Amino acid sequence: MTKIILDTDPGHDDAIALLLALASPELEVLGVTTVSGNQTLEKTTANALKILEFVERTDVPVHVGAPRPLVREQWAAAYVHGESGLDGPDLPDPKTDPRKGHAIDFIAAQVEEHDGLVLVPVGPLTNIGLLLAKYPGIESRIARIVLMGGSIAEGNVTPAAEFNIWADPEAAHRVFTSGIDVTMVGLDVTHKALLLTDKVDELRAAGRVGSLVAQLYDFYHERHVRMYGWEGSPVHDALAVAHVIRGDFVETEHRHVQVDIGPEPGRGRTYVDLWKRTGNEPNAHVGVGVNGPGFTQFLVQRLASLG
Ligand code: BDR
Ligand code: CA
Repeated sequence: MTKIILDTDPGHDDAIALLLALASPELEVLGVTTVSGNQTLEKTTANALKILEFVERTDVPVHVGAPRPLVREQWAAAYVHGESGLDGPDLPDPKTDPRKGHAIDFIAAQVEEHDGLVLVPVGPLTNIGLLLAKYPGIESRIARIVLMGGSIAEGNVTPAAEFNIWADPEAAHRVFTSGIDVTMVGLDVTHKALLLTDKVDELRAAGRVGSLVAQLYDFYHERHVRMYGWEGSPVHDALAVAHVIRGDFVETEHRHVQVDIGPEPGRGRTYVDLWKRTGNEPNAHVGVGVNGPGFTQFLVQRLASLG
C-alpha cells in the first residue's frame, strides 16, 4: 500500500481526486493538507472537511497550509469552481475542525515517520515550496512527488500557463529544482482524459457518492462547455491520483522542466525540454500520453464503489 498526503485546494476535481484516493485500497491517505488556490484557504479547507464528512472519513486529518502564494497575491478561480470553490451540490457546513499544526509541519513529521511516502500536490505548490524552505535536507526523505500542474504546450489561465503553476510559480520553481523524483501530470494529458456525461450518468444512479460527484460534475462541466465547448470535462487532479495507483494510464518522458518565474505573458509557464535541446539533466517525468477512456472507466468504477 502506498502512503500519500493529498495537498489540495478543493475545487471540484480536487474533491473527486480525494474520493478516488479514499476509494482505492492501494493507497493509504495519511492526511489532507489545504492551500489557497481555487478559492481562499478558508473555503478550500471547509471544502476538504465537507467531503471527508460526507463519506464519514473524518479519521483522515486535515491540516491547514498557506493562505496565499509566496510572492504573488492570492487569485481565486471562481470562474471554474464558483464562489464556494465547490459550487453545485448543497453540502452542509463542516462540523469538524482541521487538526492543530500547520500543513508543512504535519507533512514533515509524516515524511520522517514513513519511508516511501508520496506527496500528491494538486493545487498551487506553496505548501511544498514552504516545506522545502523550512526543512532543509527533507528532499532526500521524500520518495516521490506526483503533482497536477503545468503543460508542455498550452495554458488554461493564460495562453502560456496552467493554473496551479501560474498561481505560485516561485514555489513551483523550488519544487522542480529540488532534486526530488517529480512527476508532472499536466494539461497535455488531463485535457485528453475527459470525463463524459454518459459516464457521469452511470454514477448519478450509483448511490449517494455517485450522486454527489454527478452534481459536482454538472456545475463544473457547464463552465467547461462555456469555456472550451468540449463534450466532457477534465478531472485533472484525479488523473494525478490515478497515476499513483496505476502507472499505466499516463505515459511519461523524463525531461528537464523549467518554470517561468518572470513577468507575464510567460509567467508560470513550464518549459519542457521535450526534444532535449538544452543539455539540462531531466528533473521530471512529464505526462505525454494518456489512456483517457481507461482512466475514466476506472475512475467511475472506483467512485461507484463508495456507495
Ligand atoms: C488545476 O487548476 C485547478 O482549477 C484544478 O483544481 C486543477 O488542480 C487545473 O489547471
Ligand atoms: Ca486543484
